[in-house]
Amino acid sequence: MNKEIITVVGARPQFVKAAVVSRALAQLGIVEKLVHTGQHYDDAMSGSFVRDLGMVNIVANLQCGGGSHAAQTAKMMVEFEGFLTGLPEQPAAVMVYGDTNSTIAASLVASKLHIPVIHVEAGLRSFNREMPEEINRIVTDHLSSLLFCSSQEGVDQLAREGIAMGVHVVGDVMLDAFEHFSATSKHREAPACLQDVRAETFALATIHRPSNTENKENLSAILAGMAETPIDFLWPVHPRLQERLSQMSVSLNVHLIEPQPYLDMLELLAKCRLVVTDSGGLQKEAYWAKKCCITVRNETEWVETLQGGWNRLFDPHRDSLKAFSESKPSTPWSELYGDGCASFRLANVLKNWLSEKE
Ligand code: UD1
Repeated sequence: MNKEIITVVGARPQFVKAAVVSRALAQLGIVEKLVHTGQHYDDAMSGSFVRDLGMVNIVANLQCGGGSHAAQTAKMMVEFEGFLTGLPEQPAAVMVYGDTNSTIAASLVASKLHIPVIHVEAGLRSFNREMPEEINRIVTDHLSSLLFCSSQEGVDQLAREGIAMGVHVVGDVMLDAFEHFSATSKHREAPACLQDVRAETFALATIHRPSNTENKENLSAILAGMAETPIDFLWPVHPRLQERLSQMSVSLNVHLIEPQPYLDMLELLAKCRLVVTDSGGLQKEAYWAKKCCITVRNETEWVETLQGGWNRLFDPHRDSLKAFSESKPSTPWSELYGDGCASFRLANVLKNWLSEKE
């Protein structure tokens, strides 16, 4: 029986997670090949990650970037089906990460070809179906045979949805990446954008969710909050937002910069005073870096980070960013989402699962 795993990645955070898992799989002798859907295609969003993280096992790029959700997902499905059916033998499983259009496209194709799906970061819910990611993660979980959760919260949620078989808590593979690559990033030259701000005084900001960026009132309210907060903001801007922001009034303390490579992001995280974001991954990375996070959303999947006020949900129409930026956590920092060995735990479970299939 073929024991090869095909892993599908496509968006920034997936490169980060896959990089550490691939290393762990290789160490246990599990054969894995990566397929890049091409969802992210700019060098700053994709190429720099692939290079910096040493992802040498990408065997195909399906070039499915851009377009509406339906067009992008459909194109990925057609291309990925062609890839899988063109292989000399079916793989043992298709592994997917998180909640992007690449995740759902690959899961649908694999399951219809009767190839088991492995979902890393399973069981997360925002309970907000207006987020495309929520649809993607629900469908993917329900199609998966092996589900790896970052914490018990995910296992409990899957159980509530009737999914109990093949569920494992391994911790968060992003923590493995954070720990491994933080050590590397320390030895690099400081990112040039740090010249614009003083260390330990600035906020690292990333805002890219359509709910914040496609609605002009919401985006204006976020910018107004930044304008009245007396600190500098370093904001790596997602390509989708660049043009819109160039037409809006941005105050002088807000420094708009290019999307940053992962290792530079880790360096900025280490040097900032706090984080303002609507990203999923950055909420956790802020916590691991022991920085306060202000999450510009009404809900979060990473509910554990809210304990003690390390992470706070922020509504730009209701709350004061200035006041939020001054508040301090009420409880001491403690470990969340594992111990940095999630990818090895995952690899061990996968190895046993593969041997049971012999
Ligand atoms: C995707 C994920 C989101 C994740 C984010 C990480 C989905 C539904 N969303 O959002 O969960 O947090 O990635 O960054 O999958 N674009 C470029 N260059 C690129 C990539 C995108 O210009 O390299 C532009 C294109 O116009 C594209 C648009 O950005 O159509 C949106 O990109 P897309 O990949 O659809 O979703 P993201 O917003 O990046």
